[in-house]
Amino acid sequence: MTAAVTDSQALWYLTRGSGLVALVLLTVSMVLGIAQLERWSGPTGQRFVVTHLHRNASLLAVVFLGVHVASSVVDGFAPIRWLDAVVPWRSAYRPVWLGLGALALDLVVALVLTSLLRVRIPHRAWRLVHWSAYLCWPLAFVHGLGTGTDGRVGWVQLVDAVCLAAMVLALAWRIGAGWQRNPSARTAATAAAAAVLLAIVAWAYAGPLQAGWARRAGTPSSLLTGATAASADGATTGTTGTTGTVPR
Ligand code: HEM
Repeated sequence: MTAAVTDSQALWYLTRGSGLVALVLLTVSMVLGIAQLERWSGPTGQRFVVTHLHRNASLLAVVFLGVHVASSVVDGFAPIRWLDAVVPWRSAYRPVWLGLGALALDLVVALVLTSLLRVRIPHRAWRLVHWSAYLCWPLAFVHGLGTGTDGRVGWVQLVDAVCLAAMVLALAWRIGAGWQRNPSARTAATAAAAAVLLAIVAWAYAGPLQAGWARRAGTPSSLLTGATAASADGATTGTTGTTGTVPR
């Protein structure tokens, strides 16, 4: 029994740690991807390095995502199945927020596969898929806050804030230098980015950063059973912020 609980604890730490590392790597990959765009990348040598770092950060993110998904399914504490990791919104556990993670994962897989096969597919198709990176990142970020346990832990908030700030700066750079001859497209991109940013910050303050999020996030009531008032916060205690079949 003790060994089972310890194993479960280890898997739970693995899920949380690998999720955070994957988010950081996705952020690094996004920033490098934006930086490698030709007009900002300087001499060919530098561009080569940035391109390789971008590629390696993306591949490493996939490895950590594999660990993240496998540990959360194998853990067994929360009812998450393999299919839930790829088919959005079918999970019994925090369905909306886990579903966003599944969608982000699908996009990451599509981005990486089309990039590995880049020379074999039309450039337009590759580019179209690559644009979905701008959707993938906010989905992953919101998933992390909505599903995760640690959104109210100080250093995790710092990591989240740094990732968000890095994305905002990179996007501002991208929008500032892009669409030179199309000011209306630039205005639309700025407005869309600002609206998404404000929506994420407002949602985070009203939702995951408040007490009682575990219940509101859609944690199955069986896992909430026996929760103390304090742990029902769901932010700094167990997976669900509660006691359940496996005490955490
Ligand atoms: C691009 C894809 C994804 C990224 C970047 C990502 C990242 C994250 C992050 C940052 C957290 C918060 C960890 C914490 O609070 O300490 C998290 C939580 C979680 N993620 Fe993901 N995730 C992704 C996809 C998925 C998928 C497809 C699944 C489905 C199996 C999943 C399952 C979970 C679970 C169960 C948690 C809660 C862990 C806990 O108890 O705190 N994630 N994820």
